[in-house]
Amino acid sequence: MEIVVSGIRPTGRLHLGNYFGAVANFVRLQEQYRCYFFIADYHSLTTHPHPADLHGTVRQVLAEYLACGVDPKRCVLYRQSDVPETAELYLFLNMLAYVGELERSASFKEKVRSQPDNVNAGLLTYPVLMTADIIIHRAHKVPVGKDQTQHLEMARNFAERFNRLYGEDFFPLPQALGTGGTLVKVPGLDGSGKMGKSEGEGNAVFLSDTEEEIRRKVMRAVTDSGPTTPNQPMSEPVQNLFALMKLVSPPETVSHYEEAYRACTIRYGDMKKQLAADMAAFTAPIRERIAYYLNNDSLLRDILEQGQEQARASASATVAEVRRLIGFRKF
Ligand code: ADP
Ligand code: TRP
Repeated sequence: MEIVVSGIRPTGRLHLGNYFGAVANFVRLQEQYRCYFFIADYHSLTTHPHPADLHGTVRQVLAEYLACGVDPKRCVLYRQSDVPETAELYLFLNMLAYVGELERSASFKEKVRSQPDNVNAGLLTYPVLMTADIIIHRAHKVPVGKDQTQHLEMARNFAERFNRLYGEDFFPLPQALGTGGTLVKVPGLDGSGKMGKSEGEGNAVFLSDTEEEIRRKVMRAVTDSGPTTPNQPMSEPVQNLFALMKLVSPPETVSHYEEAYRACTIRYGDMKKQLAADMAAFTAPIRERIAYYLNNDSLLRDILEQGQEQARASASATVAEVRRLIGFRKF
């Protein structure tokens, strides 16, 4: 069976955009591939998080992915720092990565611009660590968004360079796993663009938001002054509200409001109330499961222990072979 690897950045709570985008994709993939999903906590050290914050976000992200249906019985779910073999492979790969090519990476250049006072070597070698993450399980496929295409290309280069240097096709060259257009782009509530956690307060609805928070955010969503002629084209903010409604409401509800829009009788206030109620109902079971996991540290610990065991079995087999290929052999 083909092997899939993907990393999860521990950046805090998940919103509906993450849910219908990346997370739903993981849930699908775990049925079709041998999946290794890990929380990329080594990577997050580039920003020097406070230890308590790092621990807290990893825990939150773990609880939320579990609550969304990423199932440790169907995939290997682990924490990157629980598999130190990754760090060893990263060391080996660093010897094959040229400073010049790392400096040319778009994400590195962006960091140099955005945080000139913290251009650490970990940022420069981020793509090398990402390569180690992927090839440590000798993965074939990596489900990543457009923003990661260049990183994945670098991973292929490093894997190929290793194979060439040591004269064996040991590592498969990891390919992007296309989603065939099945990934939805979830719009935000501010009337433009996508839902995102850094798009400003109120734009994103988080899975862990209470019913009251959801209602408050949705009621403040941007709309327009309403249609005045039948079948008037929808403005972007209103299209966005309908797109959100299609994700969480029954089809009859959506067509009811579409009809009202066409007939110019729509009241956005009513539509938003309905949308807020349906969103809250949609996220309620997820919210409960998040709370369940967050209140059950021993369960989280067991899950990570199992993930660690499975991930290390795969990782240590790879690293043993890599050591042999490199020439670190027994006398
Ligand atoms: P944010 O944009 O809030 O910072 P991230 O960049 O951390 O979110 O996204 C993590 C994953 O969730 C990515 O794979 C991204 O493609 C997906 N994602 C984020 N926002 C959306 C959205 N609005 N619609 C669909 N997928 C999204
Ligand atoms: N760089 C990825 C991101 O920013 C996270 C990541 C780290 C990753 N290692 C990975 C993704 C390995 C896929 C495979 O989202």
